[in-house]
Amino acid sequence: MTTLNIHLLFISLRDDHSFGTLSVTAQVTLPASFWAYPTKTPFLPAGPIALPSTEIISSVPMQKIRLVHETDRTHLDKDFIALLESANAGLEEWTPELVGEGEGGTYFMRNLKGDIVGVFKPEDEDPQSPSNPKKNKKVRDEDGDDRDEDRDDDSDESQEKLRTTIPLGTTALREVAAYRLDRGLAGVPVTVLVEVDDWRENGKKKIGSFQKFVPKGAASWDLGPSKYSIADTHKIGILDLRMHNTDRHGGNMLAVALPQKGIEGNTHGLVPIDHGYCFPTSMSEGSFEWFYWPQAKKPFSSEMLEYIQKIDVEEDQRLLKSVGIVEEEALRVNKIATLALKAGAKAGLNLYQIACICSRKVPDALSPLELACGQVEEQMKQKGISSFEEEYWSLLNAKLSELLKPMH
Ligand SMILES: Nc1ncnc2c1ncn2[C@@H]1O[C@H](COP(=O)(O)OP(=O)(O)O)[C@@H](O)[C@H]1O
Ligand SMILES: [Mg+2]
Repeated sequence: MTTLNIHLLFISLRDDHSFGTLSVTAQVTLPASFWAYPTKTPFLPAGPIALPSTEIISSVPMQKIRLVHETDRTHLDKDFIALLESANAGLEEWTPELVGEGEGGTYFMRNLKGDIVGVFKPEDEDPQSPSNPKKNKKVRDEDGDDRDEDRDDDSDESQEKLRTTIPLGTTALREVAAYRLDRGLAGVPVTVLVEVDDWRENGKKKIGSFQKFVPKGAASWDLGPSKYSIADTHKIGILDLRMHNTDRHGGNMLAVALPQKGIEGNTHGLVPIDHGYCFPTSMSEGSFEWFYWPQAKKPFSSEMLEYIQKIDVEEDQRLLKSVGIVEEEALRVNKIATLALKAGAKAGLNLYQIACICSRKVPDALSPLELACGQVEEQMKQKGISSFEEEYWSLLNAKLSELLKPMH
C-alpha cells in the first residue's frame, strides 16, 4: 500500500481582475498492484493499437523472406502480407519444391499446414540462365534409362526458348513489372520481389519474384478457347501488347472454373502468369496465343475502349523505371506499343488487327510497326536529329495514324 498526498491549487479570476485562490490537499491510498503495471508504457491501453489504415504492419517478423523493395508497399494489402508471412512460417516445415511444368526454376512454397500459397522464381534460374535447374535435368528415355537432357543442343525446342531481347538475370523484376503495369485489369496475381535466406537450406540467399498461387488453375491450352470470355481475352491481349510479351503461350494462362456459366457460354476465367519474358528490348519476338482465338476478332467493348484511351503512357514509363526496367530500348518498346494500341483502338481496329501490325508474321520479316519506326528514324536522320526526344514521338504519332486506319 502506498499513500500519496495530492495538493490542488484552484485559481479564480474575478470580474475586477483580482485573483482568489483555494488550496486543497487530498490523500490517496494505492494498492501495491498499481506499481506492477509496466513502467515503460504506462499509458498504453491493453490490446492492439490502432494504426493509420494505409500502413501495412507485419505482425510476424519476416525471418527468411523479405521484400526487396520494402519502402514501396503501398500497393500491397494486408491479406498479401499475411500470405507472405504464412509462406515464411511454412519454410520451417517445407522445402520449396521445383515445379515440373515450365522450362526454368519455379518453386511452390507452402504454409505451415502444407497448402501451396506462393510461387517463387529465382532471378538466376530462368530458362536461359546457366543456373537453370532444368537445363540439364534427368529424363527417362524409351529404354527406361536415366540420361541428362541437354537443352543446349540444336533441337527446335531449345532454339525456340532463346530470347535475345531479354537481358539475362532480369526475369524476376519483369514479373513484378507486369503485375504493377496490369493494375488489376487482366488479373496478374500479386507479385513482389523478395530475398529468401538459407535457400533450400544451403545457407545462401536467393532473390526472385514471389507470386500469389492460383489454386485449381489448368493450363488454358488443355481446354480450348471456347471456354473463355471475350472480355478476359481482350484484357490479357491489351496487357500483352503493352508489354510486348514474347511468351504468351497457352500454358501461361491459367483456366479457373467459374461458379456458373457466363452469358457467352464461357465456363472458365483466365489468369495470366509467367511474365519474365515481357518488356523486351526490341519488337521482334512478340508471341500471343490469343491471336488465334475468335475472341480476338470481336470488337472492343465501350469500357475497354475507354480504358485504352485513358492509359497514361508517361505514367507507365515512370512505373516501369521504378520497378527496375532500366534499358532505354525496353522502355521505348513499351511506349511505342502502347501508342500503337491507342491509335488502333481509336481507329476502330480489333485486337487481332492491332496485333497483326505490332508483331511479326514470320521471325525474319519486320512487322508493319517496326517498319514504321524505321521510317521515322530515317526521317530523324535526314533532319540531323539523333535522340528520341519530342520530335521522334510527334513524327511517330503521325505515322501511327497513317498506319492504323479503319479497316472494313
Ligand atoms: N501463380 C501461379 N499459380 C498457380 N500455378 C502457377 C503460378 N505460377 C506458375 N505456376 C505453375 O508453375 C508452372 C511454371 O511456372 P511459369 O511461371 O510458367 O515458369 P516457366 O518460366 O518455367 O514457364 C506453370 O506452368 C504453372 O503450372
Ligand atoms: Mg511458363
